[in-house]
Amino acid sequence: MKDVYILAVESSCDDTSAAVLRNQCVLSNVLTSQKIHEQYGGVVPELASRAHQANIVPVVNQALDQAGIDLSKIDAVAFTAFPGLLGSLLVGSSFVKGLALSLNKPVLAIDHMQAHMMALFIDEEHTQPKKPSFPFICLTVSGGHTQISIVRDFTQIQIIGKTKDDAVGEAFDKIAKLLGLPYPGGPLIDQIAREGNPLAFHFSESNMENLDFSFSGIKTSVLYFLEEKVKEDPDFIKKNLADICASAQYALVNMLLKKIKKASVTTGIREIAVVGGVSANSWLRSQLENMAQKSHWNTYFPKLQFCTDNAAMIGVSAYFKMKGQSDEINDMFVVPRSR
Ligand code: KG4
Ligand code: ZN
Repeated sequence: MKDVYILAVESSCDDTSAAVLRNQCVLSNVLTSQKIHEQYGGVVPELASRAHQANIVPVVNQALDQAGIDLSKIDAVAFTAFPGLLGSLLVGSSFVKGLALSLNKPVLAIDHMQAHMMALFIDEEHTQPKKPSFPFICLTVSGGHTQISIVRDFTQIQIIGKTKDDAVGEAFDKIAKLLGLPYPGGPLIDQIAREGNPLAFHFSESNMENLDFSFSGIKTSVLYFLEEKVKEDPDFIKKNLADICASAQYALVNMLLKKIKKASVTTGIREIAVVGGVSANSWLRSQLENMAQKSHWNTYFPKLQFCTDNAAMIGVSAYFKMKGQSDEINDMFVVPRSR
């Protein structure tokens, strides 16, 4: 297959992103985070759609400029089709479909969850990350999803466990909100926890059967704990913030690690990957490395900038989709679906 240039757009939640790739190599990956949601403690869907409308043209232009690629050189355009916020998805899909029609190029509709996994296969000019070999176990941890899968090849993905309630990123964000931290709280908890003692407080961990997860209980356990402590000392949170963050993070990460271990033992697979926004978490990364040494696993994470939502992962998924199908692909009629 000759070199293909792909323009990709990701607009499923609160980040507008565009990327240009040559095959699986990213040439540019531009991202605008919407600050407007911070004051509401979570993403407001209508505001997110409006911000995507305002951002999409400048972000795409910037991605083309940074890649040094003219629109006429683009062979295909890709967008996130699902899951996500419907209004936000529609901005990306309408823009990309209009652009593809005007360029007379194929459109590729990409599954956001699959794209998080494909982030493991993004190359950069002069750097190629260590990649997992098939089959591998993949834990996908984001703001909307928590699932564990066996990835047999680029298209054969079997989900073997998932959350029964909140996603782990959502649990990080909700606990952060209880502590008075702005949205998204996950990266802040990660940062503040570095100064704290993970064993200072005990938060009960859920113990779901099989490979499923549950994260709503720990949020309630943190809530009751804080209510009680703040009654005794109104400054309790301020005085103990780092220890609370470290202890809550310890419990959340433990729940993830236990399921990875169980998945590896039951399947016999020792290639272990973690992807999605929460895979940027430094405690999760270091604890998994420790476990991997003891259990003789090979572990893989996307580079930090490809963990949270980004268009490069949409582009690389589009590349593998094109490579896997000899007939011309055109997903023009794929309709976005919400979460
Ligand atoms: O994958 P992502 O960017 O968006 C979704 O598809 O949902 O994930 C966003 C989630 C948020 O909940 C955010 O708080 C969490 O990932 N997150 C983190 C870290 N960085 C992002 N959680 C814990 N530690 C981090 N360093
Ligand atoms: Zn995501």
